[in-house]
Amino acid sequence: MNTPKRYTITAALPYTNGPIHIGHLAGVYVPGDIYARFLRATGNDVAYICGSDEHGVAIPMRAKKEGVSPQDIIDKYHAIIKDSFQDFGISFDNYSRTSAPIHHDTASDFFKKLYEDGEFIEEVTAQLYDEEANQYLADRFVIGTCPKCGNEESYGDQCEKCGTSHNATDLINPKSAITGNVPTLKETKHWFLPLDKHEAFLKEWILEGHKNDWKPNVLGQVKSWIDDGLRPRAVTRDLDWGIPVPVEGADGKVLYVWFDAPIGYISATKEWAAREGKNWEDYWKSEDTQLVHFIGKDNIVFHCIIFPAMLKAHGEYILPENVPANEFLNLEGNKLSTSKNWAVWLHEYLQDFPNQQDVLRYTLTANAPESKDNDFTWKDFQAKNNNELVAVFGNFINRIVVLSNKYYKGVIPTPNEFTELDEDVLAQLKEFPHSIAKSIQRYRFREASQEMMNLARLGNKYLADEEPWKVIKTDEARVQTIMYVASQIAAGLAVLSEPFLPFTSTKLKNMLALDPSLTWNDVADKSVLLAAGHQINKSELLFSKIEDNAIQAQLDKLEATKKANEAANKQVEPQKDTIEFDDFTKMDLRVGTIIEAEKVAKTKKLLKLTVDVGIDTRTIVSGIAESFKPEDIIGQQVTVLCNLAPRKLRGVESQGMILMTDTPEGKLAFMEPKGKVINGSIVS
Ligand code: 2FM
Ligand code: ZN
Repeated sequence: MNTPKRYTITAALPYTNGPIHIGHLAGVYVPGDIYARFLRATGNDVAYICGSDEHGVAIPMRAKKEGVSPQDIIDKYHAIIKDSFQDFGISFDNYSRTSAPIHHDTASDFFKKLYEDGEFIEEVTAQLYDEEANQYLADRFVIGTCPKCGNEESYGDQCEKCGTSHNATDLINPKSAITGNVPTLKETKHWFLPLDKHEAFLKEWILEGHKNDWKPNVLGQVKSWIDDGLRPRAVTRDLDWGIPVPVEGADGKVLYVWFDAPIGYISATKEWAAREGKNWEDYWKSEDTQLVHFIGKDNIVFHCIIFPAMLKAHGEYILPENVPANEFLNLEGNKLSTSKNWAVWLHEYLQDFPNQQDVLRYTLTANAPESKDNDFTWKDFQAKNNNELVAVFGNFINRIVVLSNKYYKGVIPTPNEFTELDEDVLAQLKEFPHSIAKSIQRYRFREASQEMMNLARLGNKYLADEEPWKVIKTDEARVQTIMYVASQIAAGLAVLSEPFLPFTSTKLKNMLALDPSLTWNDVADKSVLLAAGHQINKSELLFSKIEDNAIQAQLDKLEATKKANEAANKQVEPQKDTIEFDDFTKMDLRVGTIIEAEKVAKTKKLLKLTVDVGIDTRTIVSGIAESFKPEDIIGQQVTVLCNLAPRKLRGVESQGMILMTDTPEGKLAFMEPKGKVINGSIVS
């Protein structure tokens, strides 16, 4: 195995304007976590760093919408996000936030150094301005057509469709996101980072220096950027939310969020180092340190071009060794979306699947969007759990622990002579730490997780072939050897599964009462992981089958979201032709109460209702059977058009009509009075 090194591993700082979902976990935080856990397990010095990105312009926008302060928004989501990470075992050494004073100081100092070294261009330029809102429009405050791909919904700084990053003034047909107005141009001073000045270096460093070890999707984006020609980028904004620009003559200006956010990695490291009595500079300024950024593909330009240019301009920092960006995860065939609520939110997942963090971690890893966008489906989630975690991993461990307790009171037996197969299986076990490591070191976490599962498969197959539960009747000595060999595999699995399934690994280590000092490398090097005579504990359930109804409940939840979105997007019908007052007064509208309800035979939609409308009790046939069960609407007050000419529906005469409307969820709702009223009360 490689000699230990120092690693600074960063995971993209999430914006604190909403909770996090499976897409975030799959693309950034779980791969980062597997990498960090693996490196720690193999004896490296690791700082896995993250925190909340609290200066994004979406934050004050959301605050405005909810009528609260931006501080309320960041406090709320910082807490939710931090808890979600902890709940899913994301082993950050520090989870900080960019509103922390240490970050404001670090980002300000960074800016000042570049300013004093003459690394910025100071320029007065015309910027988009919303006269009504009295505000300059940059980034998400302006929407327009992307000059590159024609997407009409591009933001001022970045097009989410093609990933291009641009200046707000590059947008075609810009519109203010605040008022919808067409902006004017107004002059303002800003500081620009001249990316063009760093172009030659970036080209050489990435496209030459890393052409063989960076992922093709990352190299492709970098190349396309450089081929387009790099231009100066403004790193300040006219906004009142963010870190004030720390130089004279910059009142009312803040640092661009993408200038301060990556510096957040540095401030979070400083905060951690101070707490742990370490020297933060070792993690950012030493050539012996490997810096690796885990991000999603929409962040590539910021981590491969802009941040490295900032670090280079500063001069004291190391550059990333790799930026293993992932593609996107979709959900049941559609793009994950916070605004459309098309997501599996982590806090909700844990309510529905308590203590099943590892199932989600495993599914997201086995299906990670490493080289192309991928789809998360609930059926696949169920299959991965039932067919792999339960049927292979769980089954293997359960057999070992149960049989050991049954045959030997939980004491690992002394083996007798090994067969060729035993020798072969034990030799294969020793290869797994290498093969899994090789995939992880190449950022191939899907492959690594499958290799880990192959070890469980090896164990399962060994037991299935050797059938100790049958052999025990004829050859007890042989069973001792089989159980001994299988126990070594279980111990290896407890250690090697830790980066992928940390909760399971802990449970398994406890079950096996494994020596806590046993390391990843020991699995490769030691012949004995669980010695004969070692006492293990009783069996605990590692995974349990997920039934169809639990999956259907998730699919129903998504279906309801889809309907709600459709209803929200539904065009309001245009107004009908004008009628006279007399036309209206001709309608006899009254409140009535449903006193009986039953389905009309052989129809899906119709209910036969008996309604007390004050003047009489009558039969009304209504097309509401898909939204209401008959027994649930007895006693329901409704508005009835009483003098509608009677008509027969499926052989039943309907004497009137119940007035209904649509809910946002796409269901029907009664038009009922707010409190109870007397039946027969006129509606006018
Ligand atoms: O895209 C995002 O969610 C950003 N908040 C990521 C920031 S990464 C880093 F630079 F801080
Ligand atoms: Zn575009």
